[in-house]
Amino acid sequence: MNKQSETESTEKTSEDVDKIKQIASTIRVLVACEESQIVCSAFREYGFEAYSCDIEPSTGGHPEWHIQGDVLPELNKNWDLIIAFPPCTYLTTTGNRWFNMEIYKEKAVKRKQDRVEAIDFFMKIVNASCSKIAIENPVGIMSTNYRKPDQIVNPYEFGDPAEKRTCLWLKGLPKLKHTDVVVPPERIKFKSGKTMAKWYFDALKLSKKERQRVRSKTFPGIALAMAEQWSGVLLAEKFNGLSQFENFYSFDSII
Ligand SMILES: C[S@@+](CC[C@H](N)C(=O)[O-])C[C@H]1O[C@@H](n2cnc3c(N)ncnc32)[C@H](O)[C@@H]1O
Repeated sequence: MNKQSETESTEKTSEDVDKIKQIASTIRVLVACEESQIVCSAFREYGFEAYSCDIEPSTGGHPEWHIQGDVLPELNKNWDLIIAFPPCTYLTTTGNRWFNMEIYKEKAVKRKQDRVEAIDFFMKIVNASCSKIAIENPVGIMSTNYRKPDQIVNPYEFGDPAEKRTCLWLKGLPKLKHTDVVVPPERIKFKSGKTMAKWYFDALKLSKKERQRVRSKTFPGIALAMAEQWSGVLLAEKFNGLSQFENFYSFDSII
């Protein structure tokens, strides 16, 4: 087969795409702890039946795709894929000084209890009855308390010029491949010598609640890579006969 006909044979017609989307619409994706609906919308773009779930109302413009409430009772409802962004406030190592009992007394006791509950919440997602799970969190205590993440990604590896070291723990899914590595802006330098990513610094002008929300939003490039790269795994598992579409939804080795 010459080069041109090889290319032609992998090209997808609009009927192929419609067929894949029709099949994808039977595959259920839960995006846990997501109010922005950025990941949920990326999976919807690919035709999946995706829902976001958060105790907060959705801000992504699609309340019909949003389950507002505690995600724990939703976890074991027969999802094909769960992607979760559990709260990290009590799981970071930067907060460790607040656990000093001599200085912070009852506040430190409360903080310890909050950490135990945050670990328990994280582990309930790990142990959800679902064959494909991705859990996202910043670098923190779960790397030792649970296990090392399967990969650490940054938005600038997926076309968004920002640094945010993000751990991914994966089950039944391949690691994300970088899609477009760009250069993030220089970090802001403080007099103390400490530095901070510019986008993170810029959020300082916002109210505490808004700042938290902005800083914890998923960057669109990573959301798109999840939908693009994990679609093939979902389709291939459910429908064995889909090998002809492997190049449409490319995927690598699965963890
Ligand atoms: C680190 S933020 C993740 C935000 C996400 N990346 C996004 O783009 O919307 C954690 C989210 O978990 C939500 N959350 C906390 N406890 C929850 C629970 N029990 N069930 C569902 N969502 C919860 C918070 O409201 C917050 O939006």
